[in-house]
Formats: sequence, structure tokens, C-alpha cells
Amino acid sequence: MRNLTEHNITDAVLATLSNTKDARLKEIMTSLVKHLHAFIKEVNLTEAEWMAGIQFLTTTGHLCDDKRQEFILLSDTLGATTTKDLINHRKPEEMTEYTIFGPFYREGAPELPLRASIAGDRPGEPVIVSGRVLTPDGKPLANALLDVWHSDADGSYDVQLPGASLNLRGRFRADTEGRYTFRTIKPAYYPVPTDGPVGKMLAALGRHPYRPAHIHFIVSADGYKPLTTELFVEGDPYLDSDAVFGVRDSLVAPFVRHDSADEAKQRGVTAPFYTVNYDFVMEPA
Ligand code: BEZ
Ligand code: FE
Repeated sequence: MRNLTEHNITDAVLATLSNTKDARLKEIMTSLVKHLHAFIKEVNLTEAEWMAGIQFLTTTGHLCDDKRQEFILLSDTLGATTTKDLINHRKPEEMTEYTIFGPFYREGAPELPLRASIAGDRPGEPVIVSGRVLTPDGKPLANALLDVWHSDADGSYDVQLPGASLNLRGRFRADTEGRYTFRTIKPAYYPVPTDGPVGKMLAALGRHPYRPAHIHFIVSADGYKPLTTELFVEGDPYLDSDAVFGVRDSLVAPFVRHDSADEAKQRGVTAPFYTVNYDFVMEPA
């Protein structure tokens, strides 16, 4: 393996993989080397561009710790996360679609009685969220667990606010008919973190950093695959340009506005308030 040229360098590197015992590792590395070399040749990568790329990845790595994952954000904003999600969560149309998990989940949200509010002291327009958890043939999944989290009316998650307590998070158990209801406030659209290299990349590409307003769910029920998904607020200005490519038509739900003070009082909220109804259809394990 000497005197390599731009025409045989790829084969020479691929030949070094011949002793790889793990067949899957070999398959992945073979494809990675082929695509990486082809990419360098296709764009005629200059020395300065190669170094800029190395520096970008170095800065990305330096920003990662147990609280922040800039590499996942890079994957999210390049659509790599959603590509991985789409091929790993293929399912028949009638079942609720999976979408991106994101970095703002926290373990240990309290399990609350149905109809409780997760708004705590966060100001915002009240929303009553309700629906059912169902099997693919429409039978209720009693006791299904819904783990819920979302941003506040300014687009911040509790973990992004200084000294914030656990807020806008809760777990709810569906009743014997598979029904769930909880109260909260209307989430807002928000930017993904932009203070690192990914933010600089988005700006350089002329891309905005926003995600349309949404509520995250992990729904679980015995005998069914846990479902990680989001409900998006119909009418949000960023539904067609989500910075992380997570929107699916089937997950966009109308948040219906109600102005009656009497109705609000009856339902334990203040007017104006919104209602959203959504049924989750689970995939058998
Ligand atoms: C989120 O929806 O919480 C999220 C997803 C990907 C990147 C940043 C935030
Ligand atoms: Fe989110």
C-alpha cells in the first residue's frame, strides 16, 4: 500500500477493514469511508475547508456534557435524527406517528390525577388536552401512561430558566376507557439553542432556528411499543419549516379557542381558553 493516488486511496482504506470481526461494524465503516471519500472529491474540499470542518466538530464536541448535546443538535438540524427516526419507526398509517424526542425531557415528573394542571405558576392561555389511548382496532387501552412536557408561553423549557423548578411536566394514567385529560397553558414556538456552532451554522445557511409550538408525549401501555411523539399547534407559523424536521400532518391538532367565561369556570380554567382532543393509537410490541 504505497504510492496511493486519488483513484485507489478509497480501495486501499477499504482493504484495511478486511479483518474486522464485527460484520455490522464492517458494513457501517465500509459505507462511511466510501461516502466520506466521495464527498471530499465531489466538493473538491480545500485544505482550509477541511480545517474549518475539523474546528467546527471540535467546538461541537467541547460544548457537549451531561446537560448539553451539541452533536445531537447538529444531527437534528441536518435531518439526520429524523432520517434515523423515519427508518426505525415505520408503521401502518392508522398508528400514531413517532417524532423527535429532543433534549428537554426530565425523568421523575410527578404522576398526577386526570384533569390536574401542569402549569404550576407559569402564566399563559389555559389549554385542556384530552383524548384516548387506543389499540389499532380502536379498543381503549386502560391505564396507559402519558408522560408529558412542553415549553412555556415564551418558548422556554423549565430546564432553560435559572433556578426553575419542575414545570409544565406531568404523568397521567388513562382511565378504564383509555381516556386522558389534563390542563396546561398554550406552548409557544421556540428556537433550538443557537449560542454554539450549530447556531452559527444555521445563520451561515440563512436558516431560522425555530420549532413550531408543540407538546411532547411518551405514551406507554403494556404489550405496546412506547410511543415518543408530539402534538403540534395548528396554525403555527413554523409548521412548514421546523428547524429539526419533526412535523407530521397527522400530529398537527386544532387548539380550539373558547371565549365563554361560564364555560371556563365550569371547566376549572379562565377565558379565553383552548381545547385540543387527540387519540393516540399504539403499535403492538
Ligand atoms: C424539542 O422539541 O424539545 C427539541 C428537539 C430537537 C432539538 C431541540 C429541541
Ligand atoms: Fe420541544
